[in-house]
Order: sequence, then C-alpha cells, then structure tokens
Amino acid sequence: MKMMWNIFLITSFLILCSTVTVRSQLTSDFYQNTCPNLLKIVRQQVKTALKNEMRMGASLLRLHFHDCFVNGCDASLLLDGSDGEKFAGPNKNSARGFDVVDTIKSAVESACSGVVSCADILAIAARDSVLLSGGPSWDVLLGRRDGLVANQTGANNGLPSPFENLGNITLKFAAVGLNITDVASLSGAHTIGLARCTTFSQRLFNFTETGPDSTLDTNMLTDLQNLCPQNGDGNTTTALDQNSTDLFDNHYYKNLLNGKGLLFSDQTLYSSSDAAVSSTKTLVESYSNDSTLFFTAFASSMMKMGNISPLTGSVGEIRKNCRVIN
Ligand code: HEM
Ligand SMILES: *[C@@H]1O[C@H](CO)[C@@H](O)[C@H](O)[C@H]1NC(C)=O
Ligand SMILES: *[C@@H]1O[C@H](CO)[C@@H](O)[C@H](O)[C@H]1NC(C)=O
Ligand SMILES: *[C@@H]1O[C@H](CO)[C@@H](O)[C@H](O)[C@H]1NC(C)=O
Ligand SMILES: *[C@@H]1O[C@H](CO)[C@@H](O)[C@H](O)[C@H]1NC(C)=O
Ligand SMILES: *[C@@H]1O[C@H](CO)[C@@H](O)[C@H](O)[C@H]1NC(C)=O
Ligand SMILES: *[C@@H]1O[C@H](CO)[C@@H](O)[C@H](O)[C@H]1NC(C)=O
Ligand SMILES: *[C@@H]1O[C@H](CO)[C@@H](O)[C@H](O)[C@H]1NC(C)=O
Repeated sequence: MKMMWNIFLITSFLILCSTVTVRSQLTSDFYQNTCPNLLKIVRQQVKTALKNEMRMGASLLRLHFHDCFVNGCDASLLLDGSDGEKFAGPNKNSARGFDVVDTIKSAVESACSGVVSCADILAIAARDSVLLSGGPSWDVLLGRRDGLVANQTGANNGLPSPFENLGNITLKFAAVGLNITDVASLSGAHTIGLARCTTFSQRLFNFTETGPDSTLDTNMLTDLQNLCPQNGDGNTTTALDQNSTDLFDNHYYKNLLNGKGLLFSDQTLYSSSDAAVSSTKTLVESYSNDSTLFFTAFASSMMKMGNISPLTGSVGEIRKNCRVIN
C-alpha cells in the first residue's frame, strides 16, 4: 500500500515536471547553433547606441516592458500602423528607440538571416541596457516568436498609468502573472530615464482641494512647479531618478523614503493608503538599504516578465522587418 502511494507520488511529480517544462519553452541557448554570435552582436549594438545617447538604455528597457504587458512578449509594440500599439495613450509621443531596434535587427539579419525574432531582440537589448547602465545581469531566456497583430486597446487597458493608485497597478500586474514583489522591484526601472511634465504635473498645483500632492517633498515641488508651469505644453522632460538619471542603482528607492518619487505611481509604493502598501513599503525600505537585494529581485522579476505568454514552436513568425508582419 505504502509502495503504491510512493509510486503514485513519484508519477505525479514527474507529470507535474513535464507540464512545467512544456509551459516554459524558452531557453538561454536557443540560438546556439542557428545564430551563435547573437548575444555579442546585440551587446555591441546597444553599446554603440548608449555611447550616442545614454538615455537610450532606459528607452529600450521600457520597450520590452510595454511589449510584454500587451499580448505577451511578441514584439506587437513594434508594428507600424495607425491602429498600432505605438499610438496607444501610454506610448504616443513617449515610447522611443524604434530606430535603434531596427539597427540591431539589421545587424542580426546580416549575421543570421530570418532566424532571430524581434521579441527576443527586445529581451536581450533590455538586459544589456540595464547591465551597461550599471545594473545587474541575468540569463535571457530565448525562443519567442513574433506576433501577427498589434493590440491598441490592449495597450490602453493593460499598461499601468502614472495616475493610478497602487491597488489598480497591482491588478494590472496580476493580470499578466506578476505579483506585488514584481510591482516593487520592476518599478525600480525608474532609476534611469526621463518623464514628461504631463505624466506628473497633476500633482503640482490642484492635486487636492487644498493644493499639491502632500506626499511630494516641498523643495522638489518648487523645482517641478518651475519646470512645468500650469500653462506649459507638458512636453518638458526631467529625470525619474533626480539623483542619478543614467545610472542603474537603488537611489530610486532612497528617493521614495524622502518624498522624491517623480510620478504619483512611484511615490505610491511608499506613501499609498491602499492595503497593498504594507508589502511595498517594506520592500522599498529593503531595496533602498541593500542594492544587491534590489538587483537580485529586479533580475528575477525581469525574467518573469520576459516569460509572459511567449509565442513558441510554430505559432507566430520570425519577422524580417520588426515594423511589419512578413
Ligand atoms: C508600475 C507601473 C508603471 C508606470 C505607471 C509607469 C509609467 C511611466 C511613465 C509615465 C513614464 C514616462 C513616460 C513619458 O513621459 O513619456 C515612464 C518611463 C519609463 N518607464 Fe515606466 N512605468 C511603470 C513601470 C515600469 C516598468 C515595469 C519598467 C521596466 C521594467 C519601466 C521602465 C521605464 C523606463 C526605463 C522609463 C524611461 C524611458 C525613457 O527615458 O525613454 N516602467 N514610465
Ligand atoms: C487585445 O487585448 C485584450 C486585453 O486587453 C484582449 O482581451 C484581446 O483578446 C486582445 N485582442 C487581440 C486581437 O489580441
Ligand atoms: C482604478 O480602476 C477602476 C476600475 O477600472 C477605475 O474606475 C478607477 O478610476 C481607478 N482608480 C484610479 C485611481 O486610477
Ligand atoms: C512573487 O513571486 C515570486 C516567484 O515568482 C515568489 O518568490 C514571491 O514569494 C512572490 N511574492 C509574493 C508576495 O507573493
Ligand atoms: C488651481 O487653483 C487655483 C487657486 O484656487 C486657481 O487659481 C487655478 O486656476 C487652479 N488651476 C487649475 C488648473 O484648475
Ligand atoms: C508635444 O510633442 C508632441 C510630439 O513631439 C507634439 O505632437 C505635440 O504637439 C507637443 N505638444 C505641444 C502642446 O506642443
Ligand atoms: C545623490 O545622492 C548622494 C548621496 O547618496 C549625494 O551625495 C549626491 O550629491 C546626490 N546627487 C545628486 C545629483 O543629487
Ligand atoms: C540595512 O542593511 C544592513 C546590512 O546591509 C542591515 O544590517 C540593516 O539591518 C538594514 N536596515 C534596515 C532598516 O533594513
């Protein structure tokens, strides 16, 4: 009887293992035979792009995020066309780096034509951007294929907004299989890059009936009021991490402890009144105190984000040009 039970348990365990393997088909050596120099080529291209403009690291990282949250990591964001994701609210006049992606794709095509997906190129470029900005590295899992449709509605509904409260942001992450730890660690991407006045200026004047957002540090408030006047056009940009905009470090979290988060959605990780703040506040304190802890958590959440609903096997295609389906 006991033996039967053991056999049952072992069999169940093996079935469980094989199901898990089938579900997660991405591997770090996917292109080992078909494009052995892929990682070197992308790294060199990202290096060149960052030498030209350091901010490009932030822009490429954000492209991978905005791709993965909409129909999974399938390069749907890269498709041109007025009904594309590029024209959804969170991307319009904001997502950038598409030309650099084209350049990387051309370099990859020259070495191994028709083999490497645009979705995988985004995943590698995001990892390299973080690393070359001083952040952690991780093994990028590969084998994604490119989608055949863009989903503008999906982008408008699925991507988090900077005006959203913590409860709502958490729901959007949960919808793609990411939990509250991922919300706290991935938000640390805002240690690099810029944001336009229009994404935070609602905090500066009549946020409440009594005035500006009280969770914002008063010196930073004055600076931002000068930068983003009420009759301004909203296009002026400033650093998400005012301490070190090009450096991937844990200063983003130190800022939150001091009321210096730029976006409402940043500061809310520490100052929200939603129930979820009990988890995020503790994580913000830990990451601000221990950059190794943040780096490890960030790398692990990035791998998880890169695994959102990949197209594998013979689903989708390997796009020749990242902007159009074949
Ligand atoms: C938690 C919810 C998030 C919200 C509400 C949010 C919102 C925003 C907004 C409003 C901007 C400025 C856009 C502009 O002014 O045009 C921005 C920039 C940026 N975001 Fe996020 N974001 C979130 C999470 C993430 C995640 C998960 C990542 C990556 C893992 C990320 C990476 C970036 C980067 C790197 C920039 C700067 C881009 C550049 O300078 O070109 N964000 N984000
Ligand atoms: C677009 O995204 C939404 C989720 O916001 C999803 O329900 C819908 O099926 C997607 N449409 C396509 C064509 O993929
Ligand atoms: C949160 O989401 C709900 C439902 O979509 C919406 O009605 C509400 O306005 C959102 N709240 C914020 C602060 O974004
Ligand atoms: C979030 O998910 C990770 C694994 O992906 C897990 O280790 C962690 O405990 C989860 N966090 C919470 C708060 O559930
Ligand atoms: C904000 O409030 C001030 C004082 O009450 C008022 O003069 C101003 O017009 C308001 N601004 C906006 C954009 O509503
Ligand atoms: C902000 O910039 C975008 C594109 O760069 C432009 O289309 C828009 O007109 C600008 N807004 C204003 C008010 O100038
Ligand atoms: C960044 O923070 C460090 C302290 O952690 C401080 O010495 C430095 O002056 C700050 N730099 C800027 C530009 O705020
Ligand atoms: C900060 O980290 C140090 C070790 O790196 C630890 O001893 C200390 O307890 C931590 N403090 C907080 C508030 O987490």
